[in-house]
Amino acid sequence: MSGQVAIRDVGGVREVTFDRPEKKNALSMAMYRAAREALEGAQRDPALRVVLFTGAGEVFTAGNDMADFARVASGAADADEGTRFIAALARAEKPIVAAVPGLAVGIGTTLLLHCDLVYLAQGARLTAPFVDLALVPEAASSLLLPARIGHVRAFAMFALGEGLTAQEAMALGLANAVLPAGDVLPAAREAAAALARRPLGALVATKRLMRDAETLLARTDAEMAEFRERLQSAEAREAFAAFMERRAPDFSGF
Ligand code: COA
Repeated sequence: MSGQVAIRDVGGVREVTFDRPEKKNALSMAMYRAAREALEGAQRDPALRVVLFTGAGEVFTAGNDMADFARVASGAADADEGTRFIAALARAEKPIVAAVPGLAVGIGTTLLLHCDLVYLAQGARLTAPFVDLALVPEAASSLLLPARIGHVRAFAMFALGEGLTAQEAMALGLANAVLPAGDVLPAAREAAAALARRPLGALVATKRLMRDAETLLARTDAEMAEFRERLQSAEAREAFAAFMERRAPDFSGF
């Protein structure tokens, strides 16, 4: 599709691979669009029963493309593709499985909160350093992460940029298994195939009972209103410029 998101349908499972390893699978606008279309298409296609997200190479994804964030901050682009992808995640009715081969940053971590089965490589690390980028949490993570791991740990992730090792994530209930890197995708594929053999109506109804899409969508709307405003801030411009210039940001003037 986009060239940087690979889509493969096998035995009722749609596999969506973030495939931009030279940029640590950072999600460009085209990649968000391709991933959303793949996810939405799977909901409509009766031959597809499960969606599996993974990343090519050694990382899951380094999150939103920072150059795109900088373009949004300067008014040259909008953040709508990311917002649409997140809404599609919140609306997804069919089960989602994740195979996380390594680092997950930002949306890479918050996307996992929308997955129903999660398999992590031993070296994987989950981070969500939104405040370091002068941003706020997205993808309903301001609701989902504290609900899953408690307020203080979630706040430390968002506000201090503290990450979780794979083992910590597993202990906190964010993952089903921690495996050697080479075993992660096979385990996720096996789990997705096992789901695909189950009765779809019961799977969808179970997922629907376990999460309230309307609540998630309302939260993502509130988050995005704040996120858009933060993206335009001088603080955020400094954070993006610092990343591009490979230096530490200086927020002392704001
Ligand atoms: N957006 C755009 N490009 C990114 C990126 C992102 N989110 N993350 C990494 N890249 C690019 C780097 O700019 C670099 O490109 P270059 O080779 O053309 O200079 C390449 O990917 C490799 O990244 P590099 O930083 O050299 O690798 P690393 O192993 O030292 O560090 C990360 C990897 C992911 C820890 C680091 O790149 C990082 O912190 N990225 C930003 C993550 C982030 O804050 N995302 C947004 C969350 S909301």
